[in-house]
Amino acid sequence: MAMQYTTIARVEDILPGQTRMVQVGQCSILLVNDCGVFYALQGLCGHQNLPLAGGSIWQGVLDCPWHHFQYDIRTGENLYPRRIYPLNALPRLRQQVRPLHTYAVRVVAGKVQVEVPRCDLG
Ligand code: FES
Repeated sequence: MAMQYTTIARVEDILPGQTRMVQVGQCSILLVNDCGVFYALQGLCGHQNLPLAGGSIWQGVLDCPWHHFQYDIRTGENLYPRRIYPLNALPRLRQQVRPLHTYAVRVVAGKVQVEVPRCDLG
């Protein structure tokens, strides 16, 4: 699938430790600045599909503001509750703890860009 970088913010718009939700075509994306490094993740939590806006970042972990599912901001991997609960006994939870989709990010001339499928740009 053809991919394309698109500008979603200026570097100074999002300070270290902050996040921002952006809509890129059909994609809700959570942009994260962790100690000056930007990451972009699927903006809706796998638990109940609620927006991750306002989630806190601590030591590379995103904490969902609704019920505190936690994700690795580099990989999107669910860290909590996936590592705690017996997923084989809880099939619905197994669906909910899937990794968040992640997007490639680059900074060009002070602009933060994410790579999204061309068809998602609408
Ligand atoms: S919606 Fe994120 S933990 Fe419930």
